[in-house]
Amino acid sequence: MSNVLEVTNLNTSFWTPEGDVNAVSNVSFTIQRGETLGIVGESGSGKSQIFMSIMGLLASNGRATGSVKVTGTEILGVTTAELNKIRGARMSMIFQDPMTSLNPYLTVRRQMTEVLMTHKGMTEKEATEASIRMLDQVQIPEARRRINMHPHEFSGGMRQRVMIAMALLCGPELLIADEPTTALDVTVQAQILDLLSQLRRDNGMAIALITHDLGVIAGLADRVMVMYAGAVAEKGSVRDIFKRPQHPYTEGLLRSMPRLDESGINRLATIGGQPPNLQNLPSGCSFRERCPYAFDRCASERPALRESGGAGRAKACHLDEIGAVRQTKIGVVA
Ligand SMILES: Nc1ncnc2c1ncn2[C@@H]1O[C@H](COP(=O)(O)OP(=O)(O)O)[C@@H](O)[C@H]1O
Ligand SMILES: [Mg+2]
Repeated sequence: MSNVLEVTNLNTSFWTPEGDVNAVSNVSFTIQRGETLGIVGESGSGKSQIFMSIMGLLASNGRATGSVKVTGTEILGVTTAELNKIRGARMSMIFQDPMTSLNPYLTVRRQMTEVLMTHKGMTEKEATEASIRMLDQVQIPEARRRINMHPHEFSGGMRQRVMIAMALLCGPELLIADEPTTALDVTVQAQILDLLSQLRRDNGMAIALITHDLGVIAGLADRVMVMYAGAVAEKGSVRDIFKRPQHPYTEGLLRSMPRLDESGINRLATIGGQPPNLQNLPSGCSFRERCPYAFDRCASERPALRESGGAGRAKACHLDEIGAVRQTKIGVVA
């Protein structure tokens, strides 16, 4: 099978006067053609910085090491000129705030056609027609008229579609979506997610979908990677992870998903405590201070991410099984 994205031992740190912030620690994963990988975890867990590293968009105090291959080509540490050939054309990124990638002063027509004229060598007329087709594809009504508008003349949901259209213009093999619907109301959110799922079907793109919302992952992703304190806590198929989480942090995330119980009351459990300081990670497992199952070994030894149970599942946890340990614990207490 063909990997569109192959990330190996990615480490990203930021220099600060108070010490280095280890935002991404030894992260490895792949995404295949037509596949959607969900990346989930609390705010500050390193989700965005993984992909900012891949896109070459780190802040100036940031540094990434390891390997990032897009359709087989190494892109980590290449020159900006080389990266520019790949960004937009073979991979592109959409953000929570469309204004991160749209220019408020230029019409949508100008911004879209420029990309196609530069990357694809189209004439202005060809580029305009292709841009209108793309706006049609992301279901913007009256695209031929609206292409002459400025970004601020669109509603929030429509602006998000414009950004998606921009990202898809050159037919990228990899689309990175960083919390693309977080700022939108629920109905619009559902429409945008439907759109992404349809585009993946039609274009066979690989999608990296970053979110703190497991509901979004359940609806759209094939596999999921759970991030905690800059490292992968657990990964596997969405089905396996939702049915039977193996890492207590994943279990906690699933429990804190809002759902209605029989009485119609929305019961929301939260994971107690705070994520650790990335400048000064505790010894052993970085989740142990919040983990209901932590035992001696969790303080002395950092659990490596290892395969667990086949089908691409892996976890970074010393427990054999969450349920089994719960019983042992009760046994010890009794
Ligand atoms: N320029 C920077 N300098 C120092 N720390 C940074 C910088 N950018 C991001 N970080 C830190 O990296 C960590 C991971 O951030 P991020 O990947 O954005 O989290 P999220 O999972 O919410 O997307 C955070 O603790 C954040 O404060
Ligand atoms: Mg983020």
